[in-house]
Amino acid sequence: VKIAVFASGSGSNFAAIEQACSADELNAEIVLMVTNKPEAFVVERADKVSIPVAAIRPKDFETKDAYEEAILHALRESGAEWLVLAGYMRLVGPVLLMAYPSRIVNIHPSLLPSFPGKDAIAQAVAHGVKVTGVTVHLVDEGMDTGQILAQCAVDVVSGDEDKTAEAIHAVEHGLYKDTLNELFSR
Ligand code: GRF
Repeated sequence: VKIAVFASGSGSNFAAIEQACSADELNAEIVLMVTNKPEAFVVERADKVSIPVAAIRPKDFETKDAYEEAILHALRESGAEWLVLAGYMRLVGPVLLMAYPSRIVNIHPSLLPSFPGKDAIAQAVAHGVKVTGVTVHLVDEGMDTGQILAQCAVDVVSGDEDKTAEAIHAVEHGLYKDTLNELFSR
C-alpha cells in the first residue's frame, strides 16, 4: 500500500511508521511526506531516510482549495493511495477529502470525542480527568470527528503535562501501526 504521511512537527509518528515499513512490520511504503512547515524537524527525518518531501506553504496560495490542489498534484505524482496524518496541524479541506474518500487517517492524543483540536493533552490535564488516551480515526470535514477506528486509554499523571504526554506518545506509535495494518488488509 502506497501512503503519504502528513506532518507539521517533530515527526516521531512519521519515524515510527517509516521504521515499521522498513522492518516489514507495516504493509506499506511511504512514497511522500507532505508538510505545511518547511522548517519542521520532520523534514530532516524524511531527508535522512530519503523519503521525498512536498513542503507546501498555505500562505503561498490565495485559497485553501488552491493550496490543496498543489498537494494533490504532488500526491498524484507519488502514487499515494492513502493519506496518513501524523501531527498535521491543519484541517483537511474538500479537495483532499473528495480525492481520498474514506482513505485519510489521523491520530489524536485524547479519547475522542473528548478534547478535540489543539493541545488535547494540556486540555485533559487542565480538566483533571484521570484517564485520557489516543484515538485513531478516519478524517472527515470536522475537527477530529471522523469514524473511530481504535482507541487506547492512558492514565493521566496528575497535574503533569510532560509526563502524561510521554505516556501518550509511547502508546501512539504501536497503536497507529496496528490500526494501519488492519485497515490496509481489509
Ligand atoms: C501526536 O501527539 C499526534 O497524536 C498529534 O500530533 C502529535 C504529533 O507528534 N496529532 P509527532 O510529530 O509525531 O512527534
